[in-house]
Amino acid sequence: MNQMKKAAPAALVPSETEVAARVEVLLAQMSLEEKVGQLNQVGGAEFAPGPNAENQIRQGTAGSVLWLNDTKRFNELQKIAIEESPSGIPLLFALDVIHGYRTIFPVPLAMASSWDPGVAEKSQAVAAREARAAGLHWTFGPMVDIARDARWGRIVEGAGEDPFLGAAMAAAQVRGFQGNDLSDPERLLACAKHFAGYGASEGGRDYDPVYLSETQLRNIYLPPFEAAVKAGVATFMSAYMDLNDVPASANRLLLRQVLRQEWGFTGFVVSDAFAVGNLLVQGHARDRRDAARRGIKAGVNMDMSSYTYTENLAGLVAEGILSVAEIEEMVRPILALKVKMGLFEHPYVDEGLLAQVVAQPEHRQTSHWAAQRSMVLLKNEGGLLPLKKDMKKVAVIGPLADSREATEGSWMVFGHKPAAVTVLQGIRARLPDAQVTYAPGPEIQRDIPSWFESAMAGTTRKPTQTPDEAEAAFQNAIETARAADLAVMVLGESAEMAGEAASRASLDLPGRQEELLKAIAALGRPVVLVLLNGRPLSVNWAAEHIPAILEAWEPGTEGGHAVADILFGDVNPGGKLPVSFPRKGSHAPLYYARNLTHSPEGSPMYNPRYWDGLPVPLYPFGYGLSYTTFEFSNLEVSAPQVKVGSSVNVSLDVTNTGSLAGDEVVQLYIHQRWGSDSRPMRELKGFERVTLQPGETKRITLRLGPDELGYWSTNAGGWIQEAATFDIWVGADSLATLHAELEVVG
Ligand code: BGC
Repeated sequence: MNQMKKAAPAALVPSETEVAARVEVLLAQMSLEEKVGQLNQVGGAEFAPGPNAENQIRQGTAGSVLWLNDTKRFNELQKIAIEESPSGIPLLFALDVIHGYRTIFPVPLAMASSWDPGVAEKSQAVAAREARAAGLHWTFGPMVDIARDARWGRIVEGAGEDPFLGAAMAAAQVRGFQGNDLSDPERLLACAKHFAGYGASEGGRDYDPVYLSETQLRNIYLPPFEAAVKAGVATFMSAYMDLNDVPASANRLLLRQVLRQEWGFTGFVVSDAFAVGNLLVQGHARDRRDAARRGIKAGVNMDMSSYTYTENLAGLVAEGILSVAEIEEMVRPILALKVKMGLFEHPYVDEGLLAQVVAQPEHRQTSHWAAQRSMVLLKNEGGLLPLKKDMKKVAVIGPLADSREATEGSWMVFGHKPAAVTVLQGIRARLPDAQVTYAPGPEIQRDIPSWFESAMAGTTRKPTQTPDEAEAAFQNAIETARAADLAVMVLGESAEMAGEAASRASLDLPGRQEELLKAIAALGRPVVLVLLNGRPLSVNWAAEHIPAILEAWEPGTEGGHAVADILFGDVNPGGKLPVSFPRKGSHAPLYYARNLTHSPEGSPMYNPRYWDGLPVPLYPFGYGLSYTTFEFSNLEVSAPQVKVGSSVNVSLDVTNTGSLAGDEVVQLYIHQRWGSDSRPMRELKGFERVTLQPGETKRITLRLGPDELGYWSTNAGGWIQEAATFDIWVGADSLATLHAELEVVG
């Protein structure tokens, strides 16, 4: 970094009072139209619907620009805002930088699989540095929606099914994007989205309504958002869908009561794209005027590109339906953030900066490290892995084996060209002296084209193989594998199969992939399966018949190298699943923290419920193997009895009992045996990823206090902590067996 041309220096950090005073000076000089303009986010790309962005900026009726990723253009538009608009207020340039800008990191679901908040924090810090050097100020991330339904395509953007892990990852990402000082020229404003409950859409169908009790909302879906607020997140995005029949983007309970009154959030809320205008479609607003009024009343500060505010707010004020004070209340936090970022002092970006920033080796190294830590070893029968490096003939097979897109994964930054190291390239680089052959087999085809995919890519991917060509590719893959000593099969989902508007009814391997896997396994050569995917997959056949399976997710720029590191034993895998893997798509939603009516599965009282298969996960939450083995012992709770309101320490020894160094994630689960409400059979309440040398033992201490032992109760109508007996389990996954009891007394 030292040799490099530096980004603009950080302005002296002004105090809250100074910021507020400056905002009042600005407000005093702004017309009502300009104030409304600050609440308007315009689409900057050619395709973006709505009025011409440049004109709006010139008139002072745009506060922010999105869907633009062009450094030179940022400066041009900023110049218009500063020099030609009436009050010269700088623009905020925003974009979805979800898991990297140029250097791409593992998708967020993969980062969560590291169970290491440091992975998320460091990755997002690099993403912020690159995106800021390109001229962006604000990312629409992190997405902190809890997702318990693997069919929902956006599960890939979040941290999985669990509120405790989700909260840790949410806070870490906010720290990574924003750092400690909003005027830092290497950071971005973060945005916690989609507030709230979006991950619980009915049937896993993106955008469909969500029905959640207040108990579910408070205990499961809101904790990551609250963690983001505590970590200082600058902005929030309101979700699209109806939450309990009230659109999230006009939801006063969420946006006024919970977010501002209870959590004390002082930043601003942007709607999801077009969501204020959508209030009509949702049957909530009578017309666009009414939608604008409802948006403001609910506390949506900024209208993302539906132009409902710019069309209607001044009129609503003129008619006395809204007051100037209500508009100013929405404008203040937007101006305050612009002041705090130092945008008035440093509105432009150095157009040569990005190339230097991106070239820093540390960026790729961080991505490589993050990918290594994110992968999960699902199976390793007979110690097939790690593979020997003196192998002579390896066949790398599958439609994703050499796919840069699938390696980088869902949510590419607008206009980004994938440049990842593929698994094929990674293996070839690792085995320079071997014969590494490759056959993609039949391509993965999407049954129903997605409007979203075509909007993002400018085109919908069309099948390139005819049925005859697909058959020839199938046979070629078999012959390629037959001629090798071992086959590495790289299967899963193509990048666009997960993400927005990409729900799936089935969690099976799409297309002819499983058929190909079976045909190649039948050859009798050892087969290693590497999965590239953005959601849990019901790989039941593989789990039974393929000896080694590595869940690599969508691992980013260095993904292929990281897969090779693990396959050949240079890195010992230590990731754990942040989601349960259902055996069928129709078992979703499936998650470990269920309430019980009968005894748990495995006991004689267990009632299987389905006629056609046990609804237990193929791989449970928290699961993941290593090339070494671990043992847990000497579990101790610092006091057998504790008063409501106080804390205990839970300590245990974890020992590496194998012959390789490796990582284990120590997980702590609790269960409250009785109380005002029924509580889940297990809930994660602590974890720590540790590295242990062979034979080494470490004592780990995790704390249980009122935050972990309390919950939101339906019966009590609020947060409570109760006197009750608690089960405590510690271990390597959500089926952990090492057990202790804790008595909480009144
Ligand atoms: C998505 C958001 C995203 C926004 C802007 C919407 O369709 O739901 O997550 O931030 O577009 O690109």
